[in-house]
Order: sequence, then C-alpha cells, then structure tokens
Amino acid sequence: MRREDPTPPMSAHPLLEVRNLNLDFGSPRGRVHALRNVSLDVPTGQIVGIVGESGSGKSTLAYTVMGLLPENAQVTAGSIVFERRDLLTLTAQARRSLMGDRLSMIFQDPMTALNPVRTIESQMIDIQHHEQRGRSEKRARAIDMLKRVGIPDPQSRIGNYPHQFSGGMRQRICIAMALLVRPSLLIADEPTTALDATLEVQIIHLLKDLQREIGCSILFVSHHLGVVAELCDRVAVMYAGEVVEQGAVRDIFHTPGHPYTRALLECDPGRIKQRTRNLPTIPGEVPSMLGSKKGCIFHPRCPHAFDRCVYETPGEYRVAADQVARCHLLDRAGMVAT
Ligand SMILES: Nc1ncnc2c1ncn2[C@@H]1O[C@H](COP(=O)(O)OP(=O)(O)O)[C@@H](O)[C@H]1O
Ligand SMILES: [Mg+2]
Repeated sequence: MRREDPTPPMSAHPLLEVRNLNLDFGSPRGRVHALRNVSLDVPTGQIVGIVGESGSGKSTLAYTVMGLLPENAQVTAGSIVFERRDLLTLTAQARRSLMGDRLSMIFQDPMTALNPVRTIESQMIDIQHHEQRGRSEKRARAIDMLKRVGIPDPQSRIGNYPHQFSGGMRQRICIAMALLVRPSLLIADEPTTALDATLEVQIIHLLKDLQREIGCSILFVSHHLGVVAELCDRVAVMYAGEVVEQGAVRDIFHTPGHPYTRALLECDPGRIKQRTRNLPTIPGEVPSMLGSKKGCIFHPRCPHAFDRCVYETPGEYRVAADQVARCHLLDRAGMVAT
C-alpha cells in the first residue's frame, strides 16, 4: 500500500479483530461485566471511533487491547487478533515488545505517559529503543517530530522537562512520541477531552495528517460526536459494555439503526456540526453492570421497547452495506441477521 493513499483498500484481514470479548472487574459488590460480547474491526489505514456515555466501557476496551489492565480485571472469553496473532495468548514478554513498536497509545492526561523528572529529549530517545540507530540520529528524528506536531523551537525545547510545557504542548509531545515509533495501530483514549475547543481542532487535524503520512490505523475513543464525525472512517457505539451499533461513520450519522444511537444524534442534530463538547442527555441512567442481564441492555431507557426486548438479548442485524446494529426493531422491520 502506498503511504500517501488517503483511503486504502480494505484488506481481507483487518489490522485488529476483536471477537466476542468479555471482561469482568472484581469489586466488593460483585463482578462488574464491563465488556459484553464486544466484536470490532479496525481495518488497515483507517480511523475507528468508539463513542458512548461515560461508564460504557470505552477505556476498558482500549486498555484491554493495549494489555494495560488492572489486577482485578479478567478477560473471560473472546480474542483480540492483531496482525494475525491473538494478543490474549501471547507471553508477557512478546506483548511488551509489541508496545512502543507496532502498538502505541495516547492518554487523556499527557502526564500519564510522560516522566516528570526526565527531559523530553531522553524520553524521546528511549522510546526509539527498537530502532538500530545512533543517539544523534534518534535525537534528530525526535526534533523533527516535535517540529511536525507544532512545538516551536524544538532544537532547544527538547532539553526541557514536561512541566515547562503547557497542557496542549504536552499532548502534542505525547502524539510525537506515540508516532515516532511508526506504530501500525495507535490507540487514543479521549486525547483532546482536557483541551479547549480551539486546541482540540488543531490536535484533530494534526492526528489526521500524521495518520495519512504514516499510514497507521487509529482506534480513537471519544464522547464527542463532532470530533468522531470529522476524524473517523468508522464508528462503534458502546452502551453499558456492549457495542450496540457499528459501521461507516457516514451511514451511522445519516441513518442510525439503533434507538440509542438515534437518541445520541437526535437530541439536537445541529450540535454535531457545532462540535458538541458533551454527549446530549438521554433520559434515564446507564444501568449497573453488576450481575448478568436479561433482554436488551438499553430497554429500560428505550422509548420503543416492547416485550421481546425485556426477555431476549437482540442479535445483530445489517442496516446498510457497512452498518450493523443490535435491536429487535430491526428484525421487525425485516432486516437480515448477520
Ligand atoms: N479498575 C476497575 N475496577 C472496577 N470497575 C472498573 C474499573 N475500571 C472501570 N470499571 C468499571 O467499568 C465500567 C466501564 O468503565 P470505563 O471503561 O472507564 O468507561 P468509559 O471509558 O466508557 O467511561 C464502569 O462501570 C466502571 O465503573
Ligand atoms: Mg474512559
């Protein structure tokens, strides 16, 4: 594939294939089922958004792919196939060597990734430990990448410590570090949520430009629909630990198939264009994820729920060529099960 190709062809195997992933957190009140039967593809060279209200499992999914789960987390079923290998079956060492090489991550808070007591220079040189290059060449690459992400005077600023930069500049540095290793998959967990709207726009454009140049895929977690509409090729909508709808951004934003997606979009369609900072408020609350659930997870908040929604978990139906959703109404409307 040519690097500058803006919309690369879908290859037979997506870069990342998550299949029927189930994950529990142990808690004093019982097991929290934070991911329920999650399946998701990230095609090579594409940007896939994950949206949903707070607590829907977006970060848990991102961290599970990265292999950065806390002690109380347990994957109970499923697979995460990345570059044709199931990450869940790799040894800890094989997994570690993928990180910072084929896989890299940008966090919501840049200080999660930066070491406060070391200079940017030493951190940016260290992150290139997979590369067979000399120190001065690594330093030059780091300066070049800082320039690309818009750090003024990178030649001298590279010797500074993280606290000598503003929050927006620190996030740019994290993007530079994450992309310096030329990963095939970049995972970004709400990387612009802590920034103001103007900075957010700049960072989104920067990510899109660098993604095109490097040819990597991005899994982009956000609760901001406007950003997803602008940045992503595909989107997965998560609700209470489940992916309720996914497919091409264009299709899902024009003709949402799931009542939850519709509720997110319909509250005020104009707000999507105006870069909504937050998801609209939908009546009712995200259900507790303790214990097993019967029926459709969204039925207590769904204005269209009928008896079947209460006792039967909906399967997946094809809404358009590149769009699927889990809702009994789609069966009623005669759509084909996948
Ligand atoms: N370390 C943890 N221990 C127990 N429960 C957790 C932990 N991390 C997240 N959860 C729970 O998992 C669910 C999903 O959380 P999260 O993935 O952070 O959602 P999101 O990123 O969509 O806001 C929430 O109910 C949250 O309380
Ligand atoms: Mg989160």
